[in-house]
Amino acid sequence: MADDHWMPHAELKAHAVETIRRSYSLLSTEQDLSPANPRVNAQLTELVRTLAHCQSAGISNDLLNAPALATELEYLPALCGAAECEMEKYWARHLISCDVCDVTKFWYYPEYQELCRAEKELFETRRFETISFLGSGALPLTAFLLARHLPGVKVTCVDFDAEACDLARRLSRKIGVANDVDIRCMDALQYVPCDNELVICASLLQGREEVYRQLRSRNCAMIVRDSEGAYQFLYKAAELPEEGFRQVAKTAVDPRRINTSRYYERDAHAAA
Ligand SMILES: C[S@@+](CC[C@H](N)C(=O)[O-])C[C@H]1O[C@@H](n2cnc3c(N)ncnc32)[C@H](O)[C@@H]1O
Repeated sequence: MADDHWMPHAELKAHAVETIRRSYSLLSTEQDLSPANPRVNAQLTELVRTLAHCQSAGISNDLLNAPALATELEYLPALCGAAECEMEKYWARHLISCDVCDVTKFWYYPEYQELCRAEKELFETRRFETISFLGSGALPLTAFLLARHLPGVKVTCVDFDAEACDLARRLSRKIGVANDVDIRCMDALQYVPCDNELVICASLLQGREEVYRQLRSRNCAMIVRDSEGAYQFLYKAAELPEEGFRQVAKTAVDPRRINTSRYYERDAHAAA
């Protein structure tokens, strides 16, 4: 967890520049980006820990505008995304193989719990009978947490990676939420939500602009996971819907959560 007095500003900035550069250099040369590779594991842990301390606007802007980090800002997020997909598969396999499957052991469980709690607050005045999660991955913790916390709500996970879907399905059975969580192996572009569904777009969702375009003609609300400040070295800032939806609420930047989330409802004028 970040505290505000970890290092003086200049020292923190120098440390962050060094950590970001080292992360890019390592991830762009390693073949195995999974947690089974201790070098990748240690470097990503240090990167996330360092960025959590760089959330003030001053240091974030210094890093985002640093010419020495231009290549890293452009290319590091894709490598981190690939590593995240590997990490989810690794953890899903591990949890499926355990006699007692305890998802709280996952390194980023507290982060997901916090993210999910903050997102639920965004739509607390609305009742959705169905929620979908586009780009759900092998370890769809958001979907599992929603299924637990919102009894009676049907959750659909959508992912075009067959291995990720297989692992997510087996894990959902193992932890006892398979009746409430449907895993569909398909491109999010083809997904058609139910009437009055909440659609959550994961931060690594590809082709999202086309997905937004498709959703414009559906009666649904949307949460878009975004990335702000120094976390843009981990995830690119999300393209946001330009038409058909209006942003109603947004979570605050908070060191306990890597992503910020934006809640959208259909634009009444566009729908008319
Ligand atoms: C690492 S995972 C899980 C999501 C992550 N925890 C998050 O919140 O962004 C991202 C997943 O999105 C899937 N994905 C990306 N674009 C997609 C698309 N257009 N349709 C379906 N799945 C997609 C990938 O296959 C990958 O498994």
